[in-house]
Amino acid sequence: MAAITLNGRLLEAEAGEKVLDVARRNGIPVPTLCHHPGLSAYGACRLCLVEIKSGFRPGLVSSCTMPAIDGLVAETESPAVKSARKLVAELLLARAPQSPEIRALAAGLGAEPTAIPKKDELCILCGRCVRACSALGVNAVSFVRRGVKRRVAVPFDKPSEHCIACQACVSVCPTGAIKAKITHEKVEMVEWQARRELQRCAVCQTPFVTAGQRDLVERTVEAGHQPLGALCPKCRRLETAKAYSMWEPASGVSG
Ligand code: SF4
Ligand code: FES
Repeated sequence: MAAITLNGRLLEAEAGEKVLDVARRNGIPVPTLCHHPGLSAYGACRLCLVEIKSGFRPGLVSSCTMPAIDGLVAETESPAVKSARKLVAELLLARAPQSPEIRALAAGLGAEPTAIPKKDELCILCGRCVRACSALGVNAVSFVRRGVKRRVAVPFDKPSEHCIACQACVSVCPTGAIKAKITHEKVEMVEWQARRELQRCAVCQTPFVTAGQRDLVERTVEAGHQPLGALCPKCRRLETAKAYSMWEPASGVSG
């Protein structure tokens, strides 16, 4: 168990925790954008900066990637932190001035539109979609190009063969930059140029899942649970409830 000092408070850190985790667990607010609790840390947006005072090289570091090492002393709201976060917010605002999420975030950090040339993007290159796709083992999207031309794309900008239209990228994108058009019969991932038919629930016949999603479930869930992947959420709940109602404790086990 390590102990770190944040804003003058001595706080315990569990093994493997980052400074951001310790701050949030103790109610110390730190703004984030590229961070997502279900994804690997990336350290791209620099909004979560904190100022290290001692216990490590002094200066500004991203708290989502900084391990909470024993004896670390840091500030989350020092003048240097506030000014760096404001600059980051101004840059984000220049890149994505139409994004309500970015506008709200910038307003909260006291950032206003500046003379920085504006773009009209929604994607702020946080990489959440890329990491979500990679975490599922699908790897349909990745960053391409460098510098100002950097963006997220499918290989060669051709209709994606690999996208399974699971919409994990849509659910983690903080700015709504990725769109899925869902009809009764199919899902279309607009940016990735992927259209996938929906397969029907084995019980009620409602279309609900793409073939790729079903394969993924069958490959990754515990042996014996795969048949549930063929059922829509409603039928899956009913089947699970039925299975539990039939479960009888072994002798000697009290319910
Ligand atoms: S599309 Fe969304 S999730 Fe992906 S990098 Fe851009 S802002 Fe982040
Ligand atoms: S949230 Fe830490 S760098 Fe983006």
